[in-house]
Amino acid sequence: MAASILQLQQVSKNYTLRGVTIPVLRDISFEIETGATAAIVGPSGSGKTTLLGLCAGLDQCSDGTVLLNEIALNGLSEDELAQVRNAHVGFIFQNFQLLPTLTALENVMVPMELHGVRDASGMAIELLEKVGLASRAAHYPSQLSGGEQQRVSLARAFANKPKILFADEPTGNLDAETGQLVEELLFQLNREAGTTLVLVTHDLDLAAKTQRIIHIKGGRIH
Ligand SMILES: Nc1ncnc2c1ncn2[C@@H]1O[C@H](COP(=O)(O)OP(=O)(O)OP(=O)(O)O)[C@@H](O)[C@H]1O
Ligand SMILES: [Mg+2]
Repeated sequence: MAASILQLQQVSKNYTLRGVTIPVLRDISFEIETGATAAIVGPSGSGKTTLLGLCAGLDQCSDGTVLLNEIALNGLSEDELAQVRNAHVGFIFQNFQLLPTLTALENVMVPMELHGVRDASGMAIELLEKVGLASRAAHYPSQLSGGEQQRVSLARAFANKPKILFADEPTGNLDAETGQLVEELLFQLNREAGTTLVLVTHDLDLAAKTQRIIHIKGGRIH
């Protein structure tokens, strides 16, 4: 097993809008050990979401190297990136991003069906049980509260047994109490599965529960 599941070497990211280049991330280098937990913190607009997207293979850097599970993401096609994400990555978004036309159960089944898992529905029920929502399996996202939707998205994130899980402000849209519950479930599922966890948060108490905090300001590591 690789010692570092994620390695960034001198990564930069620019966006170009109407011919104007906007530098967003500059010279970012760090490694995350396999099985570790880390938090990325920093002011709004500092580039946290952009950075997470580059790490997770949702977007490509402009310069430098991103190695995910020893695979260089630079230069991969959209299809190849999607394959890497399917094989290795789970993602949790601030706004849940469940598919509205699928039930809770079906949402959790999607990553497993992409993997050709045999008993996807049995395993999806087990995952929903772990987040305390087996009784809501047939409900659609619009019939669930925000906290419940985020618990479904937790179950979905673990469905393909990812090596690394990225979470962008996973409790950012939830009240304190619900956020606490989601947070506990996230760490519990993570411990059980031995997944590497990289989360973005404004909540310094949540960040302090991870092994390592990466501070980013103005697109650079501080
Ligand atoms: N697709 C894009 N095109 C142009 N600029 C972008 C794009 N995405 C992000 N940016 C810019 O990059 C900068 C960093 O954005 P990012 O979303 O990564 O910040 P953040 O640290 O996650 O902020 P927040 O805490 O508010 O979520 C911002 O100035 C933003 O306007
Ligand atoms: Mg963000």
